Amino acid sequence: MVNIEHVSVEFKSKNHVFKAVNDVSLKIKKGEIFGIVGTSGAGKSTLLRTINLLQKPTFGNIFIDSVNITNFTGSELRNVRHKIGMIFQHFNLIHTKTVFDNIAFPMIVSGAQKEAVKKRVLELSQLVGLSDKINFYPSQLSGGQKQRVGIARALANNPRILLCDEPTSALDLETTNSILELLKDIHKKTKITTIFITHEMDVIKKICTKVAVMDKGIVVESGNVYDIFALPKHPFTKKLVSHTLNLELPQRIFKDTKGVLLKIIYSGKRAEESILSDVIRKFNVDINILHGKIEYINETPLGILIVNIKNENSAKVDNIINYLKQKTTLTEVFNG
Ligand SMILES: Nc1ncnc2c1ncn2[C@@H]1O[C@H](COP(=O)(O)OP(=O)(O)OP(=O)(O)O)[C@@H](O)[C@H]1O
Ligand SMILES: [Mg+2]
Repeated sequence: MVNIEHVSVEFKSKNHVFKAVNDVSLKIKKGEIFGIVGTSGAGKSTLLRTINLLQKPTFGNIFIDSVNITNFTGSELRNVRHKIGMIFQHFNLIHTKTVFDNIAFPMIVSGAQKEAVKKRVLELSQLVGLSDKINFYPSQLSGGQKQRVGIARALANNPRILLCDEPTSALDLETTNSILELLKDIHKKTKITTIFITHEMDVIKKICTKVAVMDKGIVVESGNVYDIFALPKHPFTKKLVSHTLNLELPQRIFKDTKGVLLKIIYSGKRAEESILSDVIRKFNVDINILHGKIEYINETPLGILIVNIKNENSAKVDNIINYLKQKTTLTEVFNG
């Protein structure tokens, strides 16, 4: 559906060239909710804006449905943009227009008939839960309500792609969850291909099925959200994931604990098996759980444990680790 091929974006100042996006290639399939995560300045917005050519790539190409749109201008470009809706962190509503007129705006620009506009705006305001607010101005709305208007406006022309640039970053946790639920609900109903930018892995976990991790203009890792959470490979991804899973332990644990600490990740069906009781029985050891949780990512369980095995000889510990390695997704000595 959307193919980003070797895209770079350079910004030139007097005597300096800055590469905000550096040779990024991504394939986003029809109907996917694809996340792009990274810290501030990673180049996420710049990359996202190349998809509707708000930002022209310096190098590389953008394909939509196998059509290379990179050099589109005029009516060709307008037609492509018509198929792409976008929502923003700070909503970007027109303050002098009512909710009705904000939602109607893209349809009016593209020359829709008055009656069709009215019908669609009422339909959309119902979809986003704002039927009773259509005559309000943005200043009379909460942040979450403003984003609902932004979402309705983005959907006005029945786009086939929805670009979301940190749409929840200005919202509190509860409002964030309600906006994510709304976007999920819209996706369920429309199957619209959605590309979602955020700096939080937690948001990715809640809404996306695929994710690309960006750092300093480069995509360092991409894949299924579940796999990235279970087995992050790149150090930057590991850091993001461990932050989100909140696996930090107080330093004194590392200082005071005798024996070995193990991090154990077990996924899918295995999260429902009693692996630890198995080990305890089979090896006759005491295992102390220091940290433990089961996360549900795309409704599949992912078990994460940090355990301590005390006072055992190293050969026995090696045997236990080898046994656990066969039974789990990952078992490794944990150093924090
Ligand atoms: N028009 C521009 N001219 C010059 N530099 C720019 C321009 N737009 C972005 N940049 C630079 O490119 C880098 C990436 O910016 P971008 O907005 O894509 O990051 P981001 O990942 O979206 O960050 P954030 O999470 O803060 O929104 C930044 O260092 C930024 O200063
Ligand atoms: Mg940004």
